[in-house]
Amino acid sequence: MATVLLTGATGYIASHTWLALWAAGFDVVGVDDFRNSSPQVLERLAELGGRTPVFERADVGDAAAVNALLDRHRIDATVHFAALKAVGESAEVPLAYYRNNLGGLFTVCEALRARRIGRFVFSSSATVYGEPERLPLVETSRVGATSPYGRTKLMGEQILGDLATADAGWQNAILRYFNPVGAHASGRIGEDPRGTPNNLMPYVSQVAVGRRASLSVWGNDYDTPDGTGVRDYIHVCDLAEGHVAAVQRLLDAPGSFTVNLGTGRGHSVLDVVAAFAAASGRAIPYEIRPRRPGDVAACWADPGLAEQLLGWRATRDLASMCADAWRWQSHNPNGYDT
Ligand code: UD1
Repeated sequence: MATVLLTGATGYIASHTWLALWAAGFDVVGVDDFRNSSPQVLERLAELGGRTPVFERADVGDAAAVNALLDRHRIDATVHFAALKAVGESAEVPLAYYRNNLGGLFTVCEALRARRIGRFVFSSSATVYGEPERLPLVETSRVGATSPYGRTKLMGEQILGDLATADAGWQNAILRYFNPVGAHASGRIGEDPRGTPNNLMPYVSQVAVGRRASLSVWGNDYDTPDGTGVRDYIHVCDLAEGHVAAVQRLLDAPGSFTVNLGTGRGHSVLDVVAAFAAASGRAIPYEIRPRRPGDVAACWADPGLAEQLLGWRATRDLASMCADAWRWQSHNPNGYDT
């Protein structure tokens, strides 16, 4: 069975992907330096998977460490998650974002290329589309990121495209995630942001559990059905299964591809608040505030190409995203360190 290297392996999306890869019969080697995640994740993975995770503590920007771990493990494909991802922070410390997100990519790709391990899955984002010209977004829609974070993703895609053009042995699966939310149905792993959450679902969960008093809704004067922002929320377990399908495709067929991973459905901020209140049985107090700079009114995917190429589609609805996020949050009110 093939072995998959996961970078950023103890992060939110990676930890769910790790379990999905195990469930599909893959072996996994995980790498992380815990700068933005907890070692507790490894214990939870062991418990859920019934096996001991193979894990290397390393910074993916450290070439010596990456080369050393590749000397110790035979790898067939890589899923590169390791990156910083806070849009607002990226505008304050752009060099840190470029160094970390692109530097890590260079280091990992150079080490893999030297070993001719050319099957590479890249965590990209719908943020590369910037302000959508029309919806739904298809992979050929105009790109143009509006934050340093978004530009690291767009540049990452371009760098990998150049690499695939230059080297017939290199094949990319570029995955453009829409808005990943929810948690594993066990409630044992989930999203555990450090500090005040920037994203909607973790903020709403923390209001429901009583860690925060009230949600700020960033604007209700958008051109959307209820005036609040509309996004394509996707259950993290659906997203994880999308990664498994992408790895399988790289192993089965030659060629690089770029696909949206979304559901094709949009929900407003107030839809999410109502769904979370129903799932949790808790009130979610909120206040309408001014728009957040850089936000778009609406964004959702056409997920048709992923279905065509990978035989994958998202199956879990907003109610299940909220129910699973609530199970995680209510069982682990302070995240992993409880
Ligand atoms: C954001 C990033 C995106 C990144 C993604 C990671 C921006 C502009 N985009 O997407 O690049 O890939 O996170 O998950 O930051 N909202 C509130 N109150 C809150 C938080 C959010 O009303 O406290 C609203 C937002 O205005 C938006 C929606 O909820 O309409 C979703 O916001 P969020 O979860 O932050 O995701 P995005 O902004 O879509």
